[in-house]
Amino acid sequence: MLDSNQLRMLLMVLYGLVATVALMFLLMAVLAWHMPDAGQPVAQASGEGPVNSPAAVAKVVSADALAGKAIFATNCASCHNTNADKLLGPGLAGVRQRTPGEVWLQKWIRNSSAVIASGDAYAVKIFNDNGKIQMTSFAALTDLQIKQVLDYVDSQN
Ligand code: HEC
Repeated sequence: MLDSNQLRMLLMVLYGLVATVALMFLLMAVLAWHMPDAGQPVAQASGEGPVNSPAAVAKVVSADALAGKAIFATNCASCHNTNADKLLGPGLAGVRQRTPGEVWLQKWIRNSSAVIASGDAYAVKIFNDNGKIQMTSFAALTDLQIKQVLDYVDSQN
């Protein structure tokens, strides 16, 4: 059996262990409190007013829209503005609302000539309205990348 000294030692070790675990929990709680939540949308300063001031209106941009920004810059910005101003092609503001839908947009962006050739009335109309300039085909863009680029356009309007 344990004598009283051994028992005291054992208790001290136990207390030490409990205290260490409690301290670690406290530390984790403090760290978690300071970490930004990964599931939350990324806030982007609007550019007006001092950043981080409570009065600054932060525009909330989703992760998809942020990914779309790079896709837009490399592939679309040479011919399209994100606002309503025409460049070589129409300004893309509100394009999700005026075109026949997301699936149509996927087909159009991957191969606009094929959509025009199919006789699609909207495609034929915008082709004629824009001086019959052929848009580049982006066959390699995935559904997700197209969603991201359109989310980016929406985030700018
Ligand atoms: C070479 C120039 C060019 C590039 C690059 C280009 N477009 Fe276009 N886009 C056009 C033109 C021109 C039109 C108008 C229709 C036509 O003439 O075929 C158009 C039309 C569109 C439309 C339909 C607009 C409406 O008002 O209904 C969408 C959507 C679109 N483009 C998306 C994109 C996206 C997304 C990219 C990048 C991945 C892109 N375009 C890259 C030239 C371009």
